Amino acid sequence: MTNPNLPQSGAPARRTLIAPSVLACDLTRLGDEVCAVDAAGVDWHHVDIMDGHFVPNLTFGPDIVMAIRRASEKPLDVHLMIEEPGRYAEEFIRAGASLLTFHIEALPEPRPLIDKIRKLGARPGLVIKPRTPAESVFPFLKEVDMVLVMTVEPGFTGQKFMPECVVKAAQIRREAGPQFDVEVDGGINEKTVRQVALAGANVIVAGAAIYRADDPRAAVQRIRDSLDQNIRWRDPVGG
Ligand code: DX5
Ligand code: ZN
Repeated sequence: MTNPNLPQSGAPARRTLIAPSVLACDLTRLGDEVCAVDAAGVDWHHVDIMDGHFVPNLTFGPDIVMAIRRASEKPLDVHLMIEEPGRYAEEFIRAGASLLTFHIEALPEPRPLIDKIRKLGARPGLVIKPRTPAESVFPFLKEVDMVLVMTVEPGFTGQKFMPECVVKAAQIRREAGPQFDVEVDGGINEKTVRQVALAGANVIVAGAAIYRADDPRAAVQRIRDSLDQNIRWRDPVGG
């Protein structure tokens, strides 16, 4: 039986958005770098928060989020890769996070934090690592605004895209319907973006492909062009 809540094969998904990952920028020029990609027409800025425990790397605290907030008026998509996301959620929202995503692996019972993020005025989202099944977030799809499917092991920019994760973006798109944000993060460039777009992902994080390109503006445009050509959403899970 056809589910009327799902788009027919070939129907367009939600608007595609590009979110460069600040982690890949030249940190000696943080403000200028963010302003440059902002002017290149990106939709959000993606900010990776790592604690050295949940992932083997350390990055930014709320003060850096506040600095990025001053450099752009666009939504800040703050990705928490930390062991106790509930402990710092409020600080990151006060610092300017528009969306706050955290890993289901760090908090298997995520409802209280989802509610707290929403009450504090930000949009909550859940993240799954490459080995975590899509089904682990299905019980919470009505409560969150977005699911982020990692396409590398979280921790570092510039890693190789893992194509085996793409099917999970399709499973989540199928389960959540067309008006839901499905984000992908890790190893995305103008080539790999095709398969994630066809699977139904509509929020594209790209670090090295944008910030480490010779011309970030041209890199954003190449990803945008590739998205425009591959946006015909189809349903590779159900056929
Ligand atoms: C990885 C981070 C990503 C990373 C993406 O743990 O979550 O956001 O910065 O960088 P690229 O696009 O270079 O893989
Ligand atoms: Zn990220």
